[in-house]
Amino acid sequence: MDLISFMDLGKEEIERYLEDARKMEEQLKEGKVKKHDGIVATLFFEPSTRTKLSFQSASHRLGLDVIDFSAERSSIKKGESFEDTIRMIDNYADVLVIRHPEEGSAELAAKYAESPVINAGDGSNQHPSQTLLDLYAIKKMKGKIEGLEVHLVGDLKYARVMRPLMYGLAMFGAKVKLASPTGLGMPKEAIEEAKEKYGAEIEETTKIDFSTADVAYVCRVQEERFANKSEAEEAKKGYTIKPGYLEAAKEGMILLHPLPKRDEIPPEVAASPQARYLEQARCGVPVRMAIIKKILEGRK
Ligand code: NCD
Repeated sequence: MDLISFMDLGKEEIERYLEDARKMEEQLKEGKVKKHDGIVATLFFEPSTRTKLSFQSASHRLGLDVIDFSAERSSIKKGESFEDTIRMIDNYADVLVIRHPEEGSAELAAKYAESPVINAGDGSNQHPSQTLLDLYAIKKMKGKIEGLEVHLVGDLKYARVMRPLMYGLAMFGAKVKLASPTGLGMPKEAIEEAKEKYGAEIEETTKIDFSTADVAYVCRVQEERFANKSEAEEAKKGYTIKPGYLEAAKEGMILLHPLPKRDEIPPEVAASPQARYLEQARCGVPVRMAIIKKILEGRK
């Protein structure tokens, strides 16, 4: 009933989500979305633009009501515990969507709440609705996932979007190349596990070279996760997608990014036709509609 980790999903279940999201997108276009009853609570203990608003938009599109918890203006400020906060909000809503800087917080919330919980990001760990929307966007824009070469570029150590995406791509038969600033590589055990589990081709490289890439998926350095801020500054130095990388890219390559983007995407790159991340972000609504609908139906 909860959606805590992408790793809990089987291939068939993921395919069903992608298909449901496709149907949702069609129904949205035709203005034929079936309305549901219920209340969705969004609880973001960490900043968010896309995830929170697309969950709220998806809920409204499904005919649901939304209540929003703001940690800054709540009794957390009076010292109320996480447990009490979750148990209270659970009284007022049918689904809880939670983002929190600590790993494992969504799982903990799911223990306290009777209503289903959707993890909208827990520290560097997981962000399953983003992984589903990334797979959906790739499939939509490239027509398939199997056989593609996807380059994951950026902070592969702290970004919660990257590790599950590597698994998802491996599961669906894509070839993955990993490139990161020094010290921000993908954990070795994760690479080995994804290779072993799915027989996937996964390669680490030190050089960004898009000449064989079908998809380049880039993310920012996750500076808020660094204990030492000067290390984050150091990692950011020289980490940028140069316009020349796109000029040398394979014909038809698309550039994706979970956003927010920072200096790694200079204005010339943002202006290139390969940059498709706004369209990627738009996929957040149908994908999150599919997730909420499935979870609400599971409740009954
Ligand atoms: C990502 C996140 O919060 O993990 N953003 C998002 O949800 N689209 C990526 C990031 O913050 O860099």
